[in-house]
Amino acid sequence: MSVSVVILAAGAGTRMKSLTPKVLHKICGKEMLFYSVQEALKISDDIHIILFHQYERIKEAIENYFKNSKITFHIQNHLKYPGTGGALMEGEDQKPISTKYDRTLILNGDMPLIKKDELLSLISCESAVVMSVFTLENPSGYGRVVIKDQKVHSIIEEKDATESIKSICVVNAGVYVFDKYILGNYLPKVNNNNAQKEYYLTDIISLCVQDKIDIKPVFVNEENFMGVNSKSQLVYAESKMLEYLRNEAMNQGVIMHLPDTIYIEPEVVFEGECEIENGVHIKGKCKIINSHIKAHTIIEESNLKDSDIGPMAHIRPGCEISNTHIGNFVELKACNLNGVKAGHLSYLGDCNIDEGSNIGAGVITCNYDGKKKHKTIIGKNVFIGSDTQLIAPINIGSNVLIGSGTTVTKDVNEGDLVISRVKQENKPGGFYRFFQPPKEIQKKND
Ligand code: UD1
Ligand code: MG
Repeated sequence: MSVSVVILAAGAGTRMKSLTPKVLHKICGKEMLFYSVQEALKISDDIHIILFHQYERIKEAIENYFKNSKITFHIQNHLKYPGTGGALMEGEDQKPISTKYDRTLILNGDMPLIKKDELLSLISCESAVVMSVFTLENPSGYGRVVIKDQKVHSIIEEKDATESIKSICVVNAGVYVFDKYILGNYLPKVNNNNAQKEYYLTDIISLCVQDKIDIKPVFVNEENFMGVNSKSQLVYAESKMLEYLRNEAMNQGVIMHLPDTIYIEPEVVFEGECEIENGVHIKGKCKIINSHIKAHTIIEESNLKDSDIGPMAHIRPGCEISNTHIGNFVELKACNLNGVKAGHLSYLGDCNIDEGSNIGAGVITCNYDGKKKHKTIIGKNVFIGSDTQLIAPINIGSNVLIGSGTTVTKDVNEGDLVISRVKQENKPGGFYRFFQPPKEIQKKND
């Protein structure tokens, strides 16, 4: 598709009330702007992003995600030309930034829910100017669109609107497709005679209308085109994104119990038959294959295969888990577990554990000496008794039995039994040196 895409992301985002630039606020773990760029790259190889406030931070975040894509960053001359129209102006004479193709799709960077198919449907309209609109019960914050004879007549920003204009419920969605000559002709004619003293992109539409260029409004889905201007809208957009991600997973065959309580992110991939219980959070890049994740478990940046995890387990980044059972209150970090059982209350960090090994309740890998992290390697068919501490770095061979309560400080050879326990002493009647005996025992002794 021969269209250039310009994403506007230079606004101050003052309504977010934050030191973080608006487009870097996250939705499901990814910056808002990430989503617009991701969808734009699906339809064009000529992407332009307009930045100003904290541009280095935003540029770095986006370049980090899209290392192999060609994205051109522009710094808006914000002091001279503020506003969504000003964002497109380059040089002295308000000329538009130069782009590759004859048509330009303009997107706001604060629209994280927009999808490729919707952009394609706008591009496919054969018109010199395509403008997206939607109807809202509560249109506050948006530019109101006056439609006459099914054509756009004018757009009035909220701050410039009279009470009667404010009651109009058809609003500008903020996504447009312009033929190149339209931008070239009309952008230099836009002025800043308005309440905000800004150069509005929307004024191009009014100028076109004056020159009798017909603009048919294209009605779009209001939820997917919502603009995020405040933190409450950010939270709402995240809830919509989650709904979308969960539905995708369920349509693909994942069972979700009480899905509204489940949090997943865009890089979570499910394969085969998976079952996810309520309150589960899966964050970052994760692949979950044929696994059952029980209630309130958290999984971050890890891969699971043919396993059951939780309830209330915490799988921290860097775990590769297969054919394994992890029970409640088990925390894992940077572990390779293959064919393992760890049923209760354990911390297993920086370790490899092989097939057939059983980790008892309360087993801890002591992986940190205050300065460095160390590895624990455990072979096949190892039985580790409850409340054992493994002081890393340590190597435990296969077919090893470790007695409950042992502190393992030395490597263990294949086939060994290991036990480090203080010998038990029973002192008859010792209890009564500290506590009064109950009456029936006193009588018996009398
Ligand atoms: C804009 C539209 C409004 C529409 C709404 C839809 C204008 C004048 N108004 O209003 O009609 O209903 O979007 O969401 O266009 N930006 C810049 N440079 C600037 C100012 C803004 O790049 O100088 C960027 C922002 O980063 C943002 C986008 O443009 O991504 C829109 O700016 P925002 O301030 O959110 O405009 P709205 O008031 O929402
Ligand atoms: Mg906005």
